[in-house]
Amino acid sequence: MKTLKEACKGAFRIGAALGPVGKLSEDYTPQELALIAEQFDTATPENCMKPKEVIPTEGQWRFELGDEFMQFCQENHLTVIGHVLLWHAMNPAWLFKEGKKPVSRRAALARMHKYIRKMVGRYQGKILGWDVVNDAISDRAHEYLRPTPWFQAVGEDYIEMAFRFARQTDPDVELYYNDYNIESEPTFSKTMRLLHTLQRRDVPLDGIAIQGHWLLDRVPFADIERAIVGFSELGIQVMFSELDLDVLPGSSPMNAPTSGRELDQLPLVSEDHSAILARQADQYARLFELFLKYRKVVSRVGFWGTTDEHSWLNYWPTKRENHPLLFDRQLKPKPAFEAILKVMTGK
Ligand code: XIL
Repeated sequence: MKTLKEACKGAFRIGAALGPVGKLSEDYTPQELALIAEQFDTATPENCMKPKEVIPTEGQWRFELGDEFMQFCQENHLTVIGHVLLWHAMNPAWLFKEGKKPVSRRAALARMHKYIRKMVGRYQGKILGWDVVNDAISDRAHEYLRPTPWFQAVGEDYIEMAFRFARQTDPDVELYYNDYNIESEPTFSKTMRLLHTLQRRDVPLDGIAIQGHWLLDRVPFADIERAIVGFSELGIQVMFSELDLDVLPGSSPMNAPTSGRELDQLPLVSEDHSAILARQADQYARLFELFLKYRKVVSRVGFWGTTDEHSWLNYWPTKRENHPLLFDRQLKPKPAFEAILKVMTGK
């Protein structure tokens, strides 16, 4: 069997998010760890480098999981993408408080600076690039930026400050903006606005990552192509950082139904399982045809997980059994795997 990383060599890096909960050695079987090392050349820590894990209480730094992740990647020749310095989710509550009051801009900037300096500094020379800011663009039609805790504490320039702090710490590491649905309107235009603003202000930014959490039968192929072209015209790398193709009808976490109850009541897979997996394979193949067509500007493609067992879509936004990735629960390659290999090798 040819591997994904052999098939993608020379086109773009191919990666996966690892470590959904804790220690890799406890989350994965040795067989799965071997599969990861065999198939991918890049890895992203799924959760262990998020502030909630690293700084759960003020003054306490927890690097054990991050360090273990780095060690596994080094031993297995996986290039690491750091994820994620600033996000609206998975932060400890203390970060945005001063006593009982909301944190001041001054203190928030000092905390941001310290956090970025520590994280980027600790892994300097070992990480190819960092997702510096995640999901800053608002989902709401008439709102530009999401009112995240960082935005509320610092103001609109929190984004540029984060990039500047990261660059000050490490002159060589690549710095990315990472977000979902940014290939489609109205978010595409808002993202272009953000990128233009950052560039006009000489903010150090090396790439844009489209997360790629898509729904089966609703992959916005035309939007994706337009976004690759539009973003790459700004002279930055374009990446797909968190691919998965959710097969459960109406269950996109990004367009989550109003209540978990509705989701629980959905039929798991309403038609023949193999027909669904075949459609999933076709759609993944079309995606990789696009990535291949734009290989000069697409520098990385990463999946958000490894096997269907290790996907956040099994427990977010609610518990269910999903099948979004390339390997099944027995670690066997699914039709999507074969289809991607075919596209990438031309056979
Ligand atoms: C998700 C993880 O996969 C889950 O395990 C966790 O409970 C929540 O965060 N966009 C991102 C990722 O950039 O960090 C998110 O990861 C998925 C959406």
